[in-house]
Amino acid sequence: MEFNKGDIILSEVIELKGVTKKFGKLVAVNNVSLSIRKGEFFGLLGPNGSGKTTTIKILTGQIKPNSGHVKVLGVDVLRNPVGVREVVGIIPEQETPPSFLTAEEYLHLVCKIRVLKDIGEKCDYWFKFLEFEDSRNVLCKDLSRGTRQKLMFAQAFIHSPNIAFIDEPLINLDPVIQKKVKDYLLDYVKKGNTIFFSTHILEVAQELCTKVGIIHNGRIIYEGPVKKNVSLEKIFLEKVGKDNHV
Ligand SMILES: Nc1ncnc2c1ncn2[C@@H]1O[C@H](COP(=O)(O)OP(=O)(O)OP(=O)(O)O)[C@@H](O)[C@H]1O
Ligand SMILES: [Mg+2]
Repeated sequence: MEFNKGDIILSEVIELKGVTKKFGKLVAVNNVSLSIRKGEFFGLLGPNGSGKTTTIKILTGQIKPNSGHVKVLGVDVLRNPVGVREVVGIIPEQETPPSFLTAEEYLHLVCKIRVLKDIGEKCDYWFKFLEFEDSRNVLCKDLSRGTRQKLMFAQAFIHSPNIAFIDEPLINLDPVIQKKVKDYLLDYVKKGNTIFFSTHILEVAQELCTKVGIIHNGRIIYEGPVKKNVSLEKIFLEKVGKDNHV
């Protein structure tokens, strides 16, 4: 559905309805419904093991929920998981580019799978922008953790997707690269793209996100816009702390 509000077009590009995922007896995601509009920088926050990564995996068709409906850019994720992965960018929680390829070979491979043009120029841009040109010919297994994360960042955005699902993308990056990446992400949403972001770093969520959800024991316990003068840390501690005592 699309709404016209002045010259801004607001539409729901990510939708989860009544989604539940169980691993044996454990309910990792419990009847979650969320809807995220185009141009939103959405942050999914929550304690360890609360269901953030599982939610991202469901949204990107990597695992099937037991029940519920999931749509991304109008594509039914359960019916067409590959169709979704074709159009979105993903930075998984554990950055694992293939050990047997160099950084450059891996990026070229991603570009070829995505049938992109100007592959050489695109790769040059990302090596330069994230300052890891000296690692182009290093096997992925020998890259530092932060450099592997840079490579995973590059592969997620190299095809200019309209939506990116990024699971803790900043955690191993040095402060200079973190700043560049944050600016890149803010500009990315300013251009009308959408981010679904998971993080533990509440200051980063406060700085970047337009809207957050807090998930705890698989349930969404809070959803709301991010306001400059309202501390996300305070909301998080209040909501999660209160829920722990129920
Ligand atoms: N493949 C799996 N098999 C069994 N249990 C799983 C599996 N994947 C996740 N879980 C469990 O589901 C729950 C939610 O895990 P998830 O990885 O989504 O949490 P998270 O919020 O991303 O945590 P973190 O902040 O530590 O990254 C956890 O209890 C986890 O142990
Ligand atoms: Mg996780």
